[in-house]
Amino acid sequence: MSDETKTYKEESPARYSRRDSFVKLGLGSVAIVGGGAAVFGYEFLSPNVLYEPSPITNAGKPDQYPQGSVTADVKNGIYIIHGPEGFYALTAICTHLGCLTAWNSELGIIACPCHGSKFNVEGTKTDGPAPRPLAWLRTWISDEGDLMVDRSTTVPAKQFLRT
Ligand code: FES
Repeated sequence: MSDETKTYKEESPARYSRRDSFVKLGLGSVAIVGGGAAVFGYEFLSPNVLYEPSPITNAGKPDQYPQGSVTADVKNGIYIIHGPEGFYALTAICTHLGCLTAWNSELGIIACPCHGSKFNVEGTKTDGPAPRPLAWLRTWISDEGDLMVDRSTTVPAKQFLRT
């Protein structure tokens, strides 16, 4: 065997191996680009919709709210109030800059921690920079007897729900 032949035979596996590597690298690159294009295409074609939670809150059975109670539902940003004239719901979102207010049972007021606005139990502003009273929200009793609140619909003040 000549030196030239021997060299060719020794180099051949390495040359094929390098070629295979380049082919695999190329196929891998094409696969990555194709995958990226597929993901981008899916994102582009899927509807651009914001799925927000329902504004309807099921506040449970009315009898769990004793007469004279003010119950804060912090998760939904509302107060459920059982006054002498019936049930009603107020938004807990301050009308000044949107902070979450808090019920102060000792003082009997709804107070905003941000800039000091205060509201009475019917949502009327009594102090502070808030420009409007707290909104009254639509309430009704469901077919199952649950107290329901629609956080997206306001009603005029003093629309009590009598059960
Ligand atoms: S956000 Fe309530 S007083 Fe400013």
